[in-house]
Amino acid sequence: MLEKRLRDLGQDHIADLLENNAFHLDPERIRQDLDAIDLDLVRQLMAGSHLYTPPRGDIHPAEVLPASFATTKEALPFIEKGTHLLESGRIAALVVAGGQGSRLGIEAPKGVVEVTPVKHKSLFQLHAEKILALNRRFGVSIPLFVMTSRVNDADTKSFFGKHSFFGLESESVHFFTQGLLPSLTPEGAFIISPEGGLFLNPDGHGGTLMALKRNRCLETMEHLGIEEIFFFQVDNPLVQVCDPLFIGLHASQGAQMSSKVVRKISFEEKVGVITLIDGKTSLVEYSDMADDLRYATDDRGEMLYWAGSIAIHMINRSFVEKITTEDLSLPYHRARKKIQTLDVAGRTNEIEGIKFETFIFDALPLAEKSVTLEVFREHEFAPVKNRSGQDSLESAMEMQSSLHRSWIEDAGVTLDPGIPVEISPLFALTREECLGREHDIPLSVEKELYLE
Ligand code: UTP
Repeated sequence: MLEKRLRDLGQDHIADLLENNAFHLDPERIRQDLDAIDLDLVRQLMAGSHLYTPPRGDIHPAEVLPASFATTKEALPFIEKGTHLLESGRIAALVVAGGQGSRLGIEAPKGVVEVTPVKHKSLFQLHAEKILALNRRFGVSIPLFVMTSRVNDADTKSFFGKHSFFGLESESVHFFTQGLLPSLTPEGAFIISPEGGLFLNPDGHGGTLMALKRNRCLETMEHLGIEEIFFFQVDNPLVQVCDPLFIGLHASQGAQMSSKVVRKISFEEKVGVITLIDGKTSLVEYSDMADDLRYATDDRGEMLYWAGSIAIHMINRSFVEKITTEDLSLPYHRARKKIQTLDVAGRTNEIEGIKFETFIFDALPLAEKSVTLEVFREHEFAPVKNRSGQDSLESAMEMQSSLHRSWIEDAGVTLDPGIPVEISPLFALTREECLGREHDIPLSVEKELYLE
């Protein structure tokens, strides 16, 4: 019985409201919500177990391949290896798009945000076109796995459907949903959602690994001959999807999970840093970094822990199979967040609640081998997180425009500084490809430049 299940979890306040029919609750929805969550886990989290504790141990800077490596002769065999793996259909792309985008304050899935500076293409379109361009170049059909959550799954699928999968074959796009957890009040009580159910949050991008197993995506991947997964976040329009160098480095080293990093802008920049803890590649979150590490410098007085993670990883499929054989218990991070709820009079109200999430980077120390590759921020990382200012839609558009402007300038074309520039992935995916098409670039334009 529903009320009993709630009381067993110490959630008498909701059981009482249901019994007294105090205001509009939707019992069916509450039942579905309880069915969707792992109640044992919830009990344990409420009792304080499985929670993340800041890393202790012998911490050193990670070994990082510098960004300059990409243009050396030594990089060529790795680029060839990555290219070979792409051509032979061993690589899948995986985008995590299950988040709630609360900082951006949108109701729709973040992937539908119009992000490009001239054509205002959505993030989903941009990522799909990058894959389409690779498919054409390598004569393959790279499968795209899209992780959604219950809140945005239907909207995401219908967006792809409405736009004919942006030119991809619909069978090559695989949607799967991640797990959910109830957000709690600081006192540990379930929160009623404005729809009359429980307020649930997706279980973090660390939920990807178990979600791949639960949704049988690992089997699909095996069936397709996939060996390695290129993992990225939906909100970065500059991501170089399935970059052959990164793939080649990761695979040649026999690594299980690898990461791309950028040089932190300042000691205080709020990004996680890739480090070595007791010899294992591990990420230390900004908030967990003690000042003596944060401000540590090398012999030349430069930042020692500079390798800021940009959440782009290569992950070996067999590794995911291995670590998810038993229930993978990545630690849960607690975060405070503003939550819309119903008060006892049935009015919408905003409260501060707690959500529990796991993070993909907590799987790094489980890898025996890991490659960390530095890339230039202005080439590969322009996250859309906030409504304005840093890491906003506006800054991401500016970064795309200025990167593409630099490509056409390298090809010998100079435009008025105020003119936005957008290069479709179907025209060129990289600066080198753009240089190869210099004759297709107009020498002057009036308002904007779009190349397709
Ligand atoms: P963020 O942690 O930046 O979250 O996710 P968000 O949902 O985009 O935005 P806020 O924090 O609510 O403002 C980084 C990436 O991880 C995905 C997001 O969709 C984004 O691509 N993500 C996050 C998931 O897929 N599932 C989650 O549970 C959390």
